[in-house]
Amino acid sequence: MVQFIIVLILVFLENLSNLKRVFDFLNILVSLLIAKDETCYNKFFSHRFHVQVVLSHSNLDKNVWMGRISDSRKLCQVLIPGTHNSGAYGILFGLGQTQDWSIKEQLENGVRFLDIRLARNLSPNDFEVVHGFIKLGSFKKFILSPVTKFLTDNPSEVILMRIKTYGFDFDAEARLERDFMMNLEYRFYQKIVNSNTSISQVRGKIVLLKKHHKAFKKKIGLEWPLNNNVQDKYQIEVKSYDLQMLGTTYRISCPFIFGIDIKKKSDAILKHFNQSARHYGSGFYINFASGSYYGLFIWRIASVTNKVVLDYFKTNSHRNIGSIVVIDYPNRIPGLVETLIEYNFYSNFNANDKIA
Ligand SMILES: *[C@@H]1O[C@H](CO)[C@@H](O)[C@H](O)[C@H]1NC(C)=O
Ligand SMILES: *[C@@H]1O[C@H](CO)[C@@H](O)[C@H](O)[C@H]1NC(C)=O
Repeated sequence: MVQFIIVLILVFLENLSNLKRVFDFLNILVSLLIAKDETCYNKFFSHRFHVQVVLSHSNLDKNVWMGRISDSRKLCQVLIPGTHNSGAYGILFGLGQTQDWSIKEQLENGVRFLDIRLARNLSPNDFEVVHGFIKLGSFKKFILSPVTKFLTDNPSEVILMRIKTYGFDFDAEARLERDFMMNLEYRFYQKIVNSNTSISQVRGKIVLLKKHHKAFKKKIGLEWPLNNNVQDKYQIEVKSYDLQMLGTTYRISCPFIFGIDIKKKSDAILKHFNQSARHYGSGFYINFASGSYYGLFIWRIASVTNKVVLDYFKTNSHRNIGSIVVIDYPNRIPGLVETLIEYNFYSNFNANDKIA
């Protein structure tokens, strides 16, 4: 208990130096205080407090950027901006929040990979979008409705969707497949996608990325790539300090005092982009720029890693790269999503692609 109070005081003092970080502090406080009573908490936090975000200035038409890619290019040869925990926006106190943009805004700003986390709720024909134990609302209303509307309005585009389930039993999983994946209204692509699939085959569709859907009967979408093709070091390591005392070395680590090792994460991101460049066209690559320290410091980490991503694509324009780049708060780094999109149109790519 004493340690707990000391940590809280330290966090508080540190956060005073930066008003934005007060949210980090509130995150910890609120989750510690209320986490015990999930039901009460869930009711309170299942509302969204959404602030419209000002869109960045650009002539690039981000609604239809995939439409400029020639039909013959393989889907795995496209550099695709994505969001991490895409449904976690507009949360009170920013608790566990990873995005400012709503799903609709994400798509309109060029994002084409969504990371969706689902749990069961009381509804027999819907699921709950969640982040940890925070409930974010209806799968149909907050995710599928804007996604299908977007694809109807922009049939040249492809949306890749990873669905991660929490606490699903076999029946829930079967229901997810029957009511959503196989329901053509929702536009899931009904065949298998692999490294040879061309973008023209999947335009206007949602490509499901499958990892653990054991109950699914029909083989559709893309199998989650092998470990080497995915960089997802999401738990950021803490820096530590060695204290010598009476001949013994104590390794002390406290993120609030010694900080977190964002450099290590940044290196992993860069290494993975290089890897996807070496294997261009031979498979799907997924590179998570997002990370946290036990759910904390999400923006602090993204503020560094997002710039690392931006710099990489500003300075490596000579290499062909196909990868899904998964980002927290892409909107907060001006030009980030635009740079990723434009990277697809450098002249060394397929000459048929239309340069904006
Ligand atoms: C892709 O096409 C090539 C050439 O036709 C073939 O050798 C390869 O096995 C195919 N890959 C997959 C995953 O189907
Ligand atoms: C990535 O590749 C570039 C160009 O070959 C190289 O300069 C850089 O050191 C590589 N970075 C990492 C982290 O491997």
